[in-house]
Amino acid sequence: MRRKIVAGNWKMNGSLKSNEALLDALKKASIPNNVDVIIFPPYPYLIQAQMNLQSSAIKAGAQNLSISEGGAFTGEIAGNMIKDIGCNYVLVGHSERRTLYGETSAIVAQKTAAAIKQQLTPVLCIGETLAEREAEQTQNVLTEQLQAVIEHCGIEIFSKLIIAYEPVWAIGTGKTASPEQAQAVHAFIRCFIAKSDAKIAALVQVLYGGSVKASSAKALFEMPDIDGGLVGGAALDATEFTAIISAAS
Ligand code: PGA
Repeated sequence: MRRKIVAGNWKMNGSLKSNEALLDALKKASIPNNVDVIIFPPYPYLIQAQMNLQSSAIKAGAQNLSISEGGAFTGEIAGNMIKDIGCNYVLVGHSERRTLYGETSAIVAQKTAAAIKQQLTPVLCIGETLAEREAEQTQNVLTEQLQAVIEHCGIEIFSKLIIAYEPVWAIGTGKTASPEQAQAVHAFIRCFIAKSDAKIAALVQVLYGGSVKASSAKALFEMPDIDGGLVGGAALDATEFTAIISAAS
């Protein structure tokens, strides 16, 4: 039985003051026993979230990490630093990293390996653009993104990570994939992994991301291959995010 996960990607939003209010509101929410909740604040606020959430079931993670372990890499953050402040999760390969900052599937595979080396759980983000979907390239794009990780890290790594399927056309656009559209892709992802290892494929958690709202969450999370959500905009609103958490229980 795969546990449900609701993850909140804060992206480049927040301040000490606004985070405090959001974290306090989230701590007051009741977290169902069968749901894991993880938030991903910007780096400068990670320790604020980590300390604030110490007595809470909610976990904090980082939005990105370096492929390097330390040294002369100005502006980079190493996985062991994320681990050092007590965090256990990190996003890798978010579509904004891939499209705006040139992260190729090969780099994303190296970041996945770097995370695992530090015993962090990577949330590996994959997904196609609108043009790719319209050209019926969705499965090819996902295959390339997954294959790069399999080739660099081996299939066993999929027993130590979480996948987030995020169609780029649904991110921040208000256009959620329909539960059936998302389910079809999630089933494809699971089948693709099953070709290498059926046991790992059955256990890997695959989250859906892209304009998830409280109003759309339940129908998505009820789909057999959707194990929760990676939530952007709606994760900044405590009422909305709490309702999404409830929808996963
Ligand atoms: P969104 O973002 O919910 O605002 O579409 C999701 C994400 O980018 O992870």
